Amino acid sequence: MMKRMTDVKAYLKRLELSNILREPILRSSVDSLQLPPGSKGLDAGCGTGFNTLMLAKAVGASGHVIGLDILEEFLTKGRSLAAKADLMERASFKKGDVKDLPFEDNCFDWACSIDLVGLVPIDPVFLLKELARVVKPGGRIFILIWSSQMLLPGYPLLEARLNATSFGLAPYDTKKRPELHSMRALEWFQQAGLSEPMARTFVRDINHPLNSEMLEALADLFKMRWGEDNGELSKEERVEYLRLCRDDSTDFILNIPGYYAFFTYSLFCGKVV
Ligand SMILES: C[S@@+](CC[C@H](N)C(=O)[O-])C[C@H]1O[C@@H](n2cnc3c(N)ncnc32)[C@H](O)[C@@H]1O
Repeated sequence: MMKRMTDVKAYLKRLELSNILREPILRSSVDSLQLPPGSKGLDAGCGTGFNTLMLAKAVGASGHVIGLDILEEFLTKGRSLAAKADLMERASFKKGDVKDLPFEDNCFDWACSIDLVGLVPIDPVFLLKELARVVKPGGRIFILIWSSQMLLPGYPLLEARLNATSFGLAPYDTKKRPELHSMRALEWFQQAGLSEPMARTFVRDINHPLNSEMLEALADLFKMRWGEDNGELSKEERVEYLRLCRDDSTDFILNIPGYYAFFTYSLFCGKVV
Protein backbone atom coordinates (compact mmCIF):
# COMPACT_ATOMS: atom_id res chain seq x y z
CA MET A 1 0.00 0.00 0.00
CA MET A 2 2.84 2.40 1.02
CA LYS A 3 4.65 1.51 -2.20
CA ARG A 4 1.54 2.20 -4.27
CA MET A 5 1.01 5.59 -2.58
CA THR A 6 4.64 6.51 -3.31
CA ASP A 7 4.24 5.38 -6.91
CA VAL A 8 1.08 7.43 -7.32
CA LYS A 9 2.75 10.48 -5.74
CA ALA A 10 5.76 10.14 -8.03
CA TYR A 11 3.48 9.69 -11.05
CA LEU A 12 1.46 12.75 -10.03
CA LYS A 13 4.64 14.82 -9.81
CA ARG A 14 5.73 13.53 -13.22
CA LEU A 15 2.39 14.44 -14.81
CA GLU A 16 2.66 17.93 -13.27
CA LEU A 17 6.14 18.42 -14.68
CA SER A 18 5.26 17.04 -18.09
CA ASN A 19 2.30 19.39 -18.21
CA ILE A 20 4.73 22.32 -18.29
CA LEU A 21 6.08 20.95 -21.55
CA ARG A 22 2.84 19.62 -23.01
CA GLU A 23 0.28 22.31 -22.19
CA PRO A 24 1.00 24.72 -25.08
CA ILE A 25 1.16 22.02 -27.76
CA LEU A 26 -1.93 20.21 -26.50
CA ARG A 27 -3.80 23.52 -26.37
CA SER A 28 -2.89 24.38 -30.01
CA SER A 29 -3.89 20.88 -31.09
CA VAL A 30 -7.27 21.19 -29.36
CA ASP A 31 -7.76 24.76 -30.67
CA SER A 32 -7.33 23.44 -34.21
CA LEU A 33 -10.45 21.30 -33.71
CA GLN A 34 -12.64 24.28 -32.81
CA LEU A 35 -14.78 22.30 -30.40
CA PRO A 36 -18.35 23.63 -30.48
CA PRO A 37 -19.00 26.22 -27.75
CA GLY A 38 -21.45 24.84 -25.22
CA SER A 39 -20.69 21.23 -26.14
CA LYS A 40 -20.38 18.32 -23.72
CA GLY A 41 -17.19 16.26 -23.95
CA LEU A 42 -15.38 13.34 -22.38
CA ASP A 43 -11.66 13.23 -21.52
CA ALA A 44 -11.03 9.48 -21.15
CA GLY A 45 -8.03 8.53 -19.00
CA CYS A 46 -7.79 12.14 -17.79
CA GLY A 47 -5.05 11.67 -15.19
CA THR A 48 -4.85 14.68 -12.92
CA GLY A 49 -7.21 16.65 -15.13
CA PHE A 50 -4.87 19.33 -16.53
CA ASN A 51 -6.17 18.63 -20.00
CA THR A 52 -9.76 18.27 -18.81
CA LEU A 53 -9.57 21.88 -17.64
CA MET A 54 -7.97 23.03 -20.88
CA LEU A 55 -10.78 21.29 -22.79
CA ALA A 56 -13.36 22.83 -20.46
CA LYS A 57 -12.01 26.29 -21.28
CA ALA A 58 -12.18 25.43 -25.00
CA VAL A 59 -15.94 24.72 -24.87
CA GLY A 60 -16.75 27.97 -23.06
CA ALA A 61 -18.92 28.83 -20.08
CA SER A 62 -21.97 26.84 -21.22
CA GLY A 63 -19.99 23.69 -22.08
CA HIS A 64 -19.03 20.80 -19.83
CA VAL A 65 -16.24 18.23 -19.85
CA ILE A 66 -16.12 15.06 -17.77
CA GLY A 67 -12.68 13.69 -16.94
CA LEU A 68 -12.72 9.94 -16.38
CA ASP A 69 -9.90 7.96 -14.81
CA ILE A 70 -9.46 4.65 -13.07
CA LEU A 71 -7.42 6.15 -10.20
CA GLU A 72 -9.30 8.01 -7.49
CA GLU A 73 -6.13 9.88 -6.37
CA PHE A 74 -5.90 11.56 -9.78
CA LEU A 75 -9.57 12.52 -9.77
CA THR A 76 -9.16 14.14 -6.35
CA LYS A 77 -6.33 16.22 -7.77
CA GLY A 78 -8.49 17.08 -10.81
CA ARG A 79 -11.33 18.30 -8.60
CA SER A 80 -9.00 20.49 -6.57
CA LEU A 81 -7.45 21.97 -9.74
CA ALA A 82 -10.95 22.68 -11.09
CA ALA A 83 -11.89 24.42 -7.83
CA LYS A 84 -8.70 26.51 -7.88
CA ALA A 85 -9.33 27.53 -11.49
CA ASP A 86 -12.99 28.29 -10.74
CA LEU A 87 -14.05 25.74 -13.37
CA MET A 88 -16.26 23.49 -11.20
CA GLU A 89 -19.31 24.30 -13.36
CA ARG A 90 -17.55 23.35 -16.55
CA ALA A 91 -15.51 20.32 -15.49
CA SER A 92 -16.31 17.30 -13.37
CA PHE A 93 -14.54 14.04 -12.66
CA LYS A 94 -15.75 10.47 -12.54
CA LYS A 95 -14.09 7.19 -11.68
CA GLY A 96 -14.37 4.50 -14.33
CA ASP A 97 -12.73 2.21 -16.83
CA VAL A 98 -12.32 3.38 -20.42
CA LYS A 99 -12.98 -0.21 -21.52
CA ASP A 100 -16.48 -0.04 -20.08
CA LEU A 101 -17.52 3.59 -19.89
CA PRO A 102 -20.09 4.32 -17.17
CA PHE A 103 -22.25 6.38 -19.57
CA GLU A 104 -25.33 5.85 -21.72
CA ASP A 105 -25.04 5.68 -25.51
CA ASN A 106 -24.97 8.99 -27.43
CA CYS A 107 -24.62 11.28 -24.43
CA PHE A 108 -21.56 13.35 -25.44
CA ASP A 109 -20.92 15.72 -28.34
CA TRP A 110 -17.29 14.58 -28.56
CA ALA A 111 -14.77 12.41 -26.72
CA CYS A 112 -11.01 12.25 -26.58
CA SER A 113 -8.10 10.51 -24.97
CA ILE A 114 -4.69 12.08 -24.53
CA ASP A 115 -1.54 10.03 -23.99
CA LEU A 116 -3.48 6.91 -23.19
CA VAL A 117 -3.27 4.65 -26.23
CA GLY A 118 0.04 2.82 -26.28
CA LEU A 119 0.86 3.71 -22.69
CA VAL A 120 -1.72 1.46 -21.09
CA PRO A 121 -2.73 -2.01 -22.27
CA ILE A 122 -5.90 -1.25 -24.19
CA ASP A 123 -6.83 -2.41 -27.66
CA PRO A 124 -7.04 0.90 -29.55
CA VAL A 125 -9.88 -0.14 -31.88
CA PHE A 126 -11.91 -1.38 -28.93
CA LEU A 127 -11.25 1.92 -27.13
CA LEU A 128 -12.35 3.98 -30.15
CA LYS A 129 -15.54 1.90 -30.48
CA GLU A 130 -16.31 2.43 -26.81
CA LEU A 131 -15.72 6.18 -27.14
CA ALA A 132 -17.91 6.22 -30.27
CA ARG A 133 -20.69 4.44 -28.39
CA VAL A 134 -21.08 7.34 -25.96
CA VAL A 135 -20.82 10.10 -28.62
CA LYS A 136 -23.79 11.30 -30.68
CA PRO A 137 -23.76 10.65 -34.45
CA GLY A 138 -21.80 13.45 -36.16
CA GLY A 139 -19.69 14.05 -33.03
CA ARG A 140 -15.94 13.72 -33.13
CA ILE A 141 -13.53 11.35 -31.42
CA PHE A 142 -9.91 12.39 -31.18
CA ILE A 143 -6.74 11.08 -29.66
CA LEU A 144 -3.49 12.92 -29.06
CA ILE A 145 -0.20 11.08 -28.87
CA TRP A 146 3.40 12.19 -28.20
CA SER A 147 4.97 11.26 -31.54
CA SER A 148 8.64 12.35 -31.68
CA GLN A 149 11.38 14.42 -30.11
CA MET A 150 14.71 16.08 -30.85
CA LEU A 151 16.16 17.00 -27.49
CA LEU A 152 19.94 16.58 -27.77
CA PRO A 153 21.10 19.10 -30.40
CA GLY A 154 24.58 18.23 -31.64
CA TYR A 155 24.37 14.59 -30.52
CA PRO A 156 22.20 12.89 -33.13
CA LEU A 157 23.88 9.50 -32.83
CA LEU A 158 23.60 9.37 -29.06
CA GLU A 159 19.98 10.51 -29.28
CA ALA A 160 19.24 7.85 -31.90
CA ARG A 161 20.79 5.21 -29.65
CA LEU A 162 18.83 6.42 -26.63
CA ASN A 163 15.65 6.44 -28.66
CA ALA A 164 16.33 2.90 -29.81
CA THR A 165 16.23 1.50 -26.26
CA SER A 166 13.00 0.01 -24.89
CA PHE A 167 12.29 3.02 -22.69
CA GLY A 168 13.25 5.53 -25.35
CA LEU A 169 10.89 3.87 -27.79
CA ALA A 170 7.96 3.98 -25.38
CA PRO A 171 5.08 3.69 -25.97
CA TYR A 172 6.44 1.17 -28.45
CA ASP A 173 8.32 -2.03 -27.82
CA THR A 174 9.84 -4.63 -30.08
CA LYS A 175 7.19 -7.23 -29.29
CA LYS A 176 4.32 -4.99 -30.32
CA ARG A 177 2.64 -5.64 -33.66
CA PRO A 178 3.42 -2.86 -36.20
CA GLU A 179 -0.28 -2.10 -36.63
CA LEU A 180 -0.43 -1.20 -32.95
CA HIS A 181 2.17 1.55 -33.32
CA SER A 182 0.53 4.88 -32.64
CA MET A 183 1.46 6.19 -36.09
CA ARG A 184 -0.99 3.60 -37.47
CA ALA A 185 -3.88 5.26 -35.65
CA LEU A 186 -5.75 6.24 -38.81
CA GLU A 187 -6.29 2.54 -39.50
CA TRP A 188 -7.81 2.16 -36.02
CA PHE A 189 -10.26 4.95 -36.81
CA GLN A 190 -11.24 3.19 -40.04
CA GLN A 191 -11.59 -0.17 -38.28
CA ALA A 192 -13.72 1.40 -35.57
CA GLY A 193 -16.13 2.57 -38.31
CA LEU A 194 -15.43 6.29 -37.83
CA SER A 195 -15.76 8.57 -40.85
CA GLU A 196 -13.53 11.36 -42.17
CA PRO A 197 -10.38 10.13 -40.40
CA MET A 198 -7.65 12.77 -40.34
CA ALA A 199 -4.22 13.22 -38.79
CA ARG A 200 -2.10 16.28 -38.08
CA THR A 201 1.16 16.81 -36.22
CA PHE A 202 1.98 19.76 -33.98
CA VAL A 203 5.38 20.97 -32.83
CA ARG A 204 6.46 22.36 -29.49
CA ASP A 205 9.62 24.44 -29.84
CA ILE A 206 11.87 24.86 -26.82
CA ASN A 207 14.20 27.83 -26.86
CA HIS A 208 16.88 29.15 -24.55
CA PRO A 209 16.68 30.81 -22.02
CA LEU A 210 14.88 28.17 -20.00
CA ASN A 211 13.27 29.11 -16.72
CA SER A 212 13.67 26.88 -13.66
CA GLU A 213 10.34 25.12 -14.29
CA MET A 214 11.34 24.22 -17.85
CA LEU A 215 14.76 23.04 -16.68
CA GLU A 216 13.18 20.73 -14.13
CA ALA A 217 10.57 19.46 -16.59
CA LEU A 218 13.15 18.71 -19.29
CA ALA A 219 15.57 17.07 -16.84
CA ASP A 220 12.69 14.85 -15.70
CA LEU A 221 11.81 14.06 -19.30
CA PHE A 222 15.38 12.90 -19.96
CA LYS A 223 15.11 10.64 -16.92
CA MET A 224 11.72 9.29 -17.91
CA ARG A 225 12.72 8.58 -21.52
CA TRP A 226 16.29 7.47 -21.14
CA GLY A 227 17.20 7.28 -17.46
CA GLU A 228 16.72 3.57 -16.90
CA ASP A 229 19.97 1.62 -17.02
CA ASN A 230 18.78 -1.71 -18.38
CA GLY A 231 22.01 -2.62 -20.11
CA GLU A 232 20.87 -1.70 -23.60
CA LEU A 233 23.46 1.05 -24.02
CA SER A 234 27.20 0.49 -24.23
CA LYS A 235 29.21 1.70 -21.23
CA GLU A 236 30.50 4.67 -23.28
CA GLU A 237 26.98 5.64 -24.40
CA ARG A 238 25.74 5.51 -20.83
CA VAL A 239 28.60 7.74 -19.64
CA GLU A 240 27.86 10.21 -22.44
CA TYR A 241 24.16 10.19 -21.55
CA LEU A 242 24.97 10.95 -17.89
CA ARG A 243 27.42 13.69 -18.89
CA LEU A 244 24.85 15.49 -21.05
CA CYS A 245 21.52 14.74 -19.42
CA ARG A 246 22.12 14.87 -15.67
CA ASP A 247 21.37 18.25 -14.12
CA ASP A 248 24.34 17.89 -11.74
CA SER A 249 26.81 17.46 -14.61
CA THR A 250 29.02 20.42 -15.60
CA ASP A 251 28.22 19.56 -19.24
CA PHE A 252 24.44 19.43 -18.73
CA ILE A 253 23.07 20.06 -22.21
CA LEU A 254 20.35 22.45 -21.06
CA ASN A 255 23.07 24.90 -20.00
CA ILE A 256 24.40 25.44 -23.52
CA PRO A 257 23.63 28.96 -24.64
CA GLY A 258 21.18 28.79 -27.50
CA TYR A 259 19.79 25.36 -26.55
CA TYR A 260 16.98 24.53 -28.97
CA ALA A 261 14.86 21.41 -29.07
CA PHE A 262 11.42 20.29 -30.11
CA PHE A 263 8.92 17.50 -29.75
CA THR A 264 5.71 16.68 -31.53
CA TYR A 265 2.20 15.52 -30.77
CA SER A 266 0.04 13.88 -33.41
CA LEU A 267 -3.69 14.40 -33.46
CA PHE A 268 -5.95 11.72 -34.94
CA CYS A 269 -9.62 12.43 -35.37
CA GLY A 270 -12.74 10.85 -36.85
CA LYS A 271 -16.52 11.30 -36.82
CA VAL A 272 -19.19 9.03 -35.38
CA VAL A 273 -21.61 7.94 -38.11
C1 LIG B 1 -0.17 8.66 -19.24
S1 LIG B 1 -1.52 9.05 -18.23
C2 LIG B 1 -2.23 10.37 -19.15
C3 LIG B 1 -3.16 11.20 -18.35
C4 LIG B 1 -3.76 12.39 -19.07
N1 LIG B 1 -4.58 12.00 -20.20
C5 LIG B 1 -2.69 13.34 -19.51
O1 LIG B 1 -2.42 13.43 -20.72
O2 LIG B 1 -2.13 14.02 -18.63
C6 LIG B 1 -2.66 7.71 -18.51
C7 LIG B 1 -3.86 7.76 -17.60
O3 LIG B 1 -4.75 6.72 -17.95
C8 LIG B 1 -5.33 6.19 -16.77
N2 LIG B 1 -5.82 4.85 -17.09
C9 LIG B 1 -5.10 3.74 -17.33
N3 LIG B 1 -5.92 2.70 -17.61
C10 LIG B 1 -7.18 3.17 -17.54
C11 LIG B 1 -8.45 2.57 -17.71
N4 LIG B 1 -8.58 1.28 -18.04
N5 LIG B 1 -9.55 3.34 -17.55
C12 LIG B 1 -9.43 4.65 -17.21
N6 LIG B 1 -8.23 5.27 -17.03
C13 LIG B 1 -7.13 4.54 -17.19
C14 LIG B 1 -4.20 6.24 -15.76
O4 LIG B 1 -4.68 6.19 -14.44
C15 LIG B 1 -3.54 7.57 -16.13
O5 LIG B 1 -4.08 8.62 -15.40
